[in-house]
Amino acid sequence: MRRELPKARHLPSVFYASPEVEALEKEKIFLTHWLCLGREEEVAKPGDYITMRLVGEPLIVSRDKDNNVVVMRNQCLHRGVEVAQGKGSTRNFTCPYHAWGYDIGGKLLTAAYMQRSEADLSNVSLPRLKSATWRGWIFATFNENPQSFEDFIAPYEKELWFFKTDECVLGDKLVLELDCNWKFVAENLLDRYHTGTLHAKTFGKLRTSKPEEFTFTSIPGGGSNSFSNAAPMTADGSQAFVALPWMQEHGNIATKSNIFPNLNLSSRSDSIRLWALWPLSPGRTQIISYLLFYKTALERPDFPEQLDIYRNYMKSIIAEDQSAVESLQKVAESYMYEPGPLSHLEGPIHNLLNHYLDTIEA
Ligand code: FES
Ligand SMILES: [Fe+2]
Repeated sequence: MRRELPKARHLPSVFYASPEVEALEKEKIFLTHWLCLGREEEVAKPGDYITMRLVGEPLIVSRDKDNNVVVMRNQCLHRGVEVAQGKGSTRNFTCPYHAWGYDIGGKLLTAAYMQRSEADLSNVSLPRLKSATWRGWIFATFNENPQSFEDFIAPYEKELWFFKTDECVLGDKLVLELDCNWKFVAENLLDRYHTGTLHAKTFGKLRTSKPEEFTFTSIPGGGSNSFSNAAPMTADGSQAFVALPWMQEHGNIATKSNIFPNLNLSSRSDSIRLWALWPLSPGRTQIISYLLFYKTALERPDFPEQLDIYRNYMKSIIAEDQSAVESLQKVAESYMYEPGPLSHLEGPIHNLLNHYLDTIEA
């Protein structure tokens, strides 16, 4: 994998099946980099909150009284129990174990029967993570001394001009789990090589650009971007949703990009998808798929019906990919496997994995 693409081979199995590699990834990647936690509209009003566990770390994303997005640890200051569950809207969180109470921004308000403790609980809060918003997305980092968010996002800001998700709305969010390593999903989502075969019955036939002409742009920091020609993601390639105005002059353009480490972005003339991939264990991955549409798309009376069709179409595509990536995981657990060479169509995978190796070897 470290060699130039024509001489490179895929990564050996150990990268996909070992707890040591998983621990190294957590330390060097997930606890270090900026990560995308969701959409601003998931916490639209003061009091709204969502919870999540990312690489085993429980978090709350909320909107405080002053309308700021706050990202904080979901760990009670007493014994660490998660003080918030699921999602919703509230004034206060109450820990279910011994009822310590917190406001929506994480400040401790009440702690019963602690009068005899000498601990000063008068001005303490759930620790916050550094966070930022970009084009409607909420990013945060566990790193207390991270690269500035502006520096992190600048190369993407420049390259991903078509990804105007601040002018889009979240139409749907799919959450699923697959029995494979998160990198197999990251690679598969960038893999232009398989779409004509594995997806021959679904969107493979909607793509009209020639594989032999495939090129991509490497974005500094482990990202990439490519363009092709492909009709919208419907069974017959017709456009089901309000067109994204900035895509109109480009016809049936399709885009495919990744933001390091775990985001994959794609778009068609009427929709944008972002996939966030979260390792649960070396052989299991949670996938969150955000489906976005132009801001007026939801106002159309047929939107719910079209969304239903689109969602089912996405699920049939995911089922096609699932069979392949879960098979890759079995390969990674087999002692016979020897990694094979890459096609030029796997250039974005080579780009991603070389930055991945730079990061975990650093
Ligand atoms: S763990 Fe939360 S109040 Fe005891
Ligand atoms: Fe696929």
